[in-house]
Amino acid sequence: MIDYNYIEGNLFFDDLNIKNIAKEIETPFYCYSLSYLKNQYSSLDNSINLRDYEICYAIKSNSNQSIIKNFANMGAGADVVSIGEMKRALKANIPPNKIVFSGVGKNPNEIKFALNNDILMFNVESASELKKISDEALIQSKRAPIAIRINPDITAGGNEKISTGKAQDKFGISWKDAYEIYEYASNLPGIEIKGVDAHIGSQINRLEPFSHSFDKLKEITSMLKDKGHKIDIIDVGGGLGVKYKENEEPIDVKKYGKLLSEKFEDLDCKVIIEPGRFLTANAGILVTKILHIKKSDIKNFVIVDAGMNDFIRPTLYNAHHNIIPLKEPKKLENLKCDIVGPVCETGDFFAKDMYLKDINEDDFLAICSTGAYGSVQSSNYNTRPTIGELLINKGEYEIIRKRINEDIIIDKDIISKWV
Ligand code: LLP
Repeated sequence: MIDYNYIEGNLFFDDLNIKNIAKEIETPFYCYSLSYLKNQYSSLDNSINLRDYEICYAIKSNSNQSIIKNFANMGAGADVVSIGEMKRALKANIPPNKIVFSGVGKNPNEIKFALNNDILMFNVESASELKKISDEALIQSKRAPIAIRINPDITAGGNEKISTGKAQDKFGISWKDAYEIYEYASNLPGIEIKGVDAHIGSQINRLEPFSHSFDKLKEITSMLKDKGHKIDIIDVGGGLGVKYKENEEPIDVKKYGKLLSEKFEDLDCKVIIEPGRFLTANAGILVTKILHIKKSDIKNFVIVDAGMNDFIRPTLYNAHHNIIPLKEPKKLENLKCDIVGPVCETGDFFAKDMYLKDINEDDFLAICSTGAYGSVQSSNYNTRPTIGELLINKGEYEIIRKRINEDIIIDKDIISKWV
């Protein structure tokens, strides 16, 4: 978690008094710390001691152009899962030869666009996809660089919905079938085998699952090399966990880096890492205003102006996010309450049965650790706006995404000639 501190009663985040912004910018809004983003990237980069590696930022965790551009400037490549993410990566000046294209359902347009732009490689998840990529490559008189995503059958990840490496998950090809699919790939005229890939899940806070997955990748790499396939790239996926709550022990990035070296330094391969959450989660806060405090014998509700449409992790995954007031609490009595949004759903909550001290209507709260899978998972449910995003740096802030208000959203509808 990032360190928040109160100075003269006000919450400072990256040397900025957040309450001052909240008075100028319409709440709710996301706010990201540039120094934190840079520090996370550097800490991962410095922990890796391999001859040839690439950090391909998983754009899905936070796809704002400023965030991507910052990582691009620091030397990152990108892991993308749609044509939209590919366009975002290219627009932020990530070189095409540092882009890997993952995902279980690439459509023809996306395959064509990726081939046209000569990306580093496709992480392929089925024989059907391989054939379609090969066909399109032939049309473009190219050979498509590919890795097969292996499903190593390992249980890992913060919860069931973000675990991807078990046999019953939709992702990858069973490691038992790896040999057959590589044989098939090698016989397709439009395919050039480049590597192997795995991604076992997200918010993984223990090293063991990574260790198992790396071993599996090593084993498959040796087997494929023995059979005469050329494997130059090992993509180990993302998944590094972060600290969301006090007693949570996040992954030790130095140990993760050491593990990578131990497992792969003797192999003559480029290693790709696809971190998302690790780089962005704790760089962000979501600032929201208390609209109403509703008390009863049974339950108290603090109703804020952010909703589940702005930030869905608590209700979707039961995810814990610390919530702190921008004004330092002075009085000691605690209000036991649910913090909820205005959306017409019982699931519209950010915290349940939490204690807040000294809060009043019109006060502001910061929902912490919202830099990853926050803004990117938002929607306009209840015809609510797409909220703004700010970047802060050494005591200043800049708007990096304008709020998209309801009028613009409504204007996208077309009134049918039949009504
Ligand atoms: N590579 C691939 C192929 C992925 O599918 C993902 C995430 C990543 C890399 C990056 O994983 P990370 O380093 O961020 O753990 N919405 C969920 C998380 C879904 C993750 C999906 N895949 C959440 O809010 O927890």
